Amino acid sequence: MLTPRDNDRLTRVGPGTPGGALFRRYWLPALLSEELPEADGAPVRTRILGEDLVAFRDSDGSVGIVDAFCPHRRAPMFFGRNEERGLRCVYHGWKFSRNGTCVDMPSEPPDSLFKSKVTIGAYPTHEAGGLVWVYMGAPETMPAPPDYEFMRAPATHRFMGKHVQDCNYLQALEGALDSSHATILHNMAPGKLEWLADYDRTVPRMNVYTTDYGYMYSGIRHVNGKQWVRAYQYVMPATQFRGRVDGLLGGSFRYIDDTQVPTINGHVWTPIDDHTTASYNFMYSYSPEQPLSMAGVMDQEVKDGRGPENQLPDYRLRRNLSNDYLIDRAKEKAGQFCGIEGVNTQDVALQEGMGPIVDRSKEHLGTTDRSIIVMRQLMLEAVDAVEQGRAPRGSDPAAYRNVRALDHMIPEGLDWQEALRDEILAKF
Ligand code: FES
Ligand SMILES: [Fe+2]
Repeated sequence: MLTPRDNDRLTRVGPGTPGGALFRRYWLPALLSEELPEADGAPVRTRILGEDLVAFRDSDGSVGIVDAFCPHRRAPMFFGRNEERGLRCVYHGWKFSRNGTCVDMPSEPPDSLFKSKVTIGAYPTHEAGGLVWVYMGAPETMPAPPDYEFMRAPATHRFMGKHVQDCNYLQALEGALDSSHATILHNMAPGKLEWLADYDRTVPRMNVYTTDYGYMYSGIRHVNGKQWVRAYQYVMPATQFRGRVDGLLGGSFRYIDDTQVPTINGHVWTPIDDHTTASYNFMYSYSPEQPLSMAGVMDQEVKDGRGPENQLPDYRLRRNLSNDYLIDRAKEKAGQFCGIEGVNTQDVALQEGMGPIVDRSKEHLGTTDRSIIVMRQLMLEAVDAVEQGRAPRGSDPAAYRNVRALDHMIPEGLDWQEALRDEILAKF
């Protein structure tokens, strides 16, 4: 549980809040690269950490992210013209370069110096890994650009998608760090529920290893005479990655398609505001010889409930709170555990269903909630660190650039960290 004060310190991310100050020390995904397909193309609205912004791809292909409202009389820059090296407000024609400088002010006399005194708010961007990243903090505390293994994987080996959900980012992050729900909520096999009583099989023994970037955590289940090891990574403030399994209690990888490509997947969450979250969902093949089968990835996305046909134009899910995620009580009775289709839809249903921001003073955390407890401790420490003028854990990409996740079956009796030492290190 958290006190209401600590809950607020973690979940409020707007300008001037302690949690908002923390997020403004990291690079955050602002949008998918594909949302800005061409130089001088249409601008896109985006909202991050409670700030309304407009993104546009400049004539040279670089992305600008500026205040959504013109500094003249606050007209919407979304309706602006994306012209040669700048975005022009269509109300009175003021034009701004992507670093915020006013480069033309046709409504003022030609000899006026007013132009040199007015700027539009603009944030630095960095484009890599299928994402446009933004840094919204003070220039003097800007860290080196983000550097995850998925960003270094060739484009042929990587998929990047997105969905938007209506709840605070911490609910989405906690949902992913909560390893123990996987075999329960996501058990899709119809039939009797005897497996719920099989504690060894259903519930992982968890260990959390704190690092310079956040933590690695392992969950070990004992299945069919083997250890099922899942080692996940949590990179602060809100990134998680994990290996994939072939069916909940099956083999050692989830292969995409029938191509036997081993993959790692995960999420980077960006708080849109206190009550809305963008989840950037990545998957990559970590075998240099084996690109991803994009058809296979799309099949998987559809199965998980976030394929193109499962989403609305604003990246929300078609199966959502307003239609109870199309829960099928008959299927549930027949043994499909929760009656909701798609692993991602199931997660979103539970996370959004808690309400926009959970009152964590009412929780009762148990032994399997350890990863959640440690994440909150690290985040609260980081909020304190920023208040005291120190860099928060995980803001230096050197700390996490070599980490990866794994998901393997190994013989009983082996120390997984010994046996899989090489598997947990990035190769790209
Ligand atoms: S409001 Fe934008 S130029 Fe006047
Ligand atoms: Fe889940």
